[in-house]
Amino acid sequence: MKIEQFTMEMYQEVKQIWEKTGLTLGKSDTEEEVERALRYTQDLFIVGKKQDKIVAVVMGAFDGRRGYVHHLAVDPEYQRFGIGKEMMEELHNRFREKEIVKVHLFIEVDNEGVIDFYKKVGWHSREDLAMMSFVPNS
Ligand SMILES: CC(C)(COP(=O)(O)OP(=O)(O)OC[C@H]1O[C@@H](n2cnc3c(N)ncnc32)[C@H](O)[C@@H]1OP(=O)(O)O)[C@@H](O)C(=O)NCCC(=O)NCCS
Repeated sequence: MKIEQFTMEMYQEVKQIWEKTGLTLGKSDTEEEVERALRYTQDLFIVGKKQDKIVAVVMGAFDGRRGYVHHLAVDPEYQRFGIGKEMMEELHNRFREKEIVKVHLFIEVDNEGVIDFYKKVGWHSREDLAMMSFVPNS
């Protein structure tokens, strides 16, 4: 698999993979917002290609203090072949190169099965934290 940095020309193809895998897409996933996010994702927003077809995507990001992982998705036809793991290993290396101290991700409660995937690629769950959100323009 060839791993490349995401560019805006890939947006529609990537959005289709997100939709196919059932990820919840929201206001932050429009073309305009994804373009705005590029400032923070830098070279951490990557796609995996097989014969020029995008089969996997993950949006890594860095806010200056913490790293984040959003919207990891592997095309359902290509799942369980090690692609998700390969994408995360590449992203981990990119976080390491930037000397980012800690990286977080969020999993929706109805997608808990994916916790076992993340554990297999080196992540651990946090029992000591609760997540809160604020919506400035609600
Ligand atoms: C989660 C996801 C990215 C995994 O991708 P994948 O390419 O199928 O995963 P891999 O084949 O690299 O699996 C790596 C390991 O995790 C295991 N694994 C993969 N998905 C799993 C799951 N849902 N539950 C438990 N284990 C899982 C594999 O069996 C493999 O184990 P092994 O190393 O012992 O063989 C993919 O299922 C997906 O796109 N899911 C839908 C989108 C999603 O939920 N994304 C996460 C949002 S937080």
